[in-house]
Amino acid sequence: MSRPMKRPVRIAVTGAAGNIGKALLSQIGAGSLFGPDQPVILQLIELPQAIDQLRGAAMELEDCAFPLVHSITLHTDSATGFADAHYAFLIGAMPRKQGMERADLLQANAEIFSLQGRMINDHANPDVRVLVVGNPCNTNAMIASRNAPDLCPTQFTAMSRLDHNRMAGILANRIGYNPANLRKLIVWGNHSATMVPDIDHGNCFGQPLTELVDDKWFKDVFVEKIQKRGAEIIQTCGHSSTLSAARSAVDHMNSWANGTRADDYASMGVISDGSYGITKGIHFSFPVHCNYGRYQIVQGLQLNPWLQDMIKRTEDELLKERELVQDLLPKETEARHNNFSRDYSNGREQTSGEHFLSAQKISEHE
Ligand code: NAD
Ligand code: LMR
Repeated sequence: MSRPMKRPVRIAVTGAAGNIGKALLSQIGAGSLFGPDQPVILQLIELPQAIDQLRGAAMELEDCAFPLVHSITLHTDSATGFADAHYAFLIGAMPRKQGMERADLLQANAEIFSLQGRMINDHANPDVRVLVVGNPCNTNAMIASRNAPDLCPTQFTAMSRLDHNRMAGILANRIGYNPANLRKLIVWGNHSATMVPDIDHGNCFGQPLTELVDDKWFKDVFVEKIQKRGAEIIQTCGHSSTLSAARSAVDHMNSWANGTRADDYASMGVISDGSYGITKGIHFSFPVHCNYGRYQIVQGLQLNPWLQDMIKRTEDELLKERELVQDLLPKETEARHNNFSRDYSNGREQTSGEHFLSAQKISEHE
């Protein structure tokens, strides 16, 4: 007997007609995000000048005839686009070009996230879970969260899962195992060239990765490869990562909503509560465990002096980025973020998904 379908959940995607947006939508439509019995309502948000590309993307989704796609709505107004959303993927932003660092996008992109934070605060489901993909994603996630005074800062996260997955894929090839067999990889810090890949706590079938991977290769080759993989892709094919970024966005949200294995970590950019001495209030990639729709930063890991030094550098970079966007960080939310404690209620109860759409299969809201 087939299992009954659940009630649909609302998923808002900004930049839905862009490269990552389209790749993500096809994965969500196919059920990679929440499985084969979870219908989705797709609320697609774009700039007015990209509305025709968005219409085309929606037509293609319709032509895919995905059984799980309950309905699709198109929006150039983020108030209607985020309305009642249970999940929000914030992808819409300028990507970097060859020779740029992600922080060079701060000027162009930061304002998008202050506006969207406010819109999510005012219009999304109060339990909404937000993933910021648009770069520089850690600082953009902090901006969005600071502009959402009624939501918990733990509801806003930034994507370092791509770096985590890159570690798994490249390491697995190096040591001749399947990436799924690698456990407890970690990416610390900023999604930038200062990020810190860490295998000190990792294992493969129980064997420590530090025994399987040559330390010199790890420090001299691997770390920089992960830090600069995004730039390597841009240099190689002329645009930034799309398929792997979309896949990682699915993995991030899937881990958050459905949980991580008990013997594994996910890396997520989340508000720092002071764990590992990281300044409170910045969005920093930590190892997390997810369960019951919530995440918890893994506590008590020993960090060797080399890691501590690298982690300090990536923290300093995030603090500098925060200085550059002070004008987008309302005073109203400063104390709550900068004194953030892990005792604070970590997110809210998982949504019941009880909102239905009455509109036709594809509808537009401008
Ligand atoms: P893209 O140019 O192909 O698509 C971006 C889309 O966003 C465009 O269609 C554009 O019209 C839309 N957009 C821009 N501003 C918007 C706004 N305010 N509201 C709604 N839509 C808006 O770019 P892409 O390759 O899809 O990359 C998107 C972002 O994701 C870039 O900032 C890129 O650097 C970042 N990225 C992050 C990661 C990560 O791991 N965190 C990985 C890859 C890419
Ligand atoms: C990536 O890591 O691939 C993205 O952040 C895009 C970029 O600019 O590198």
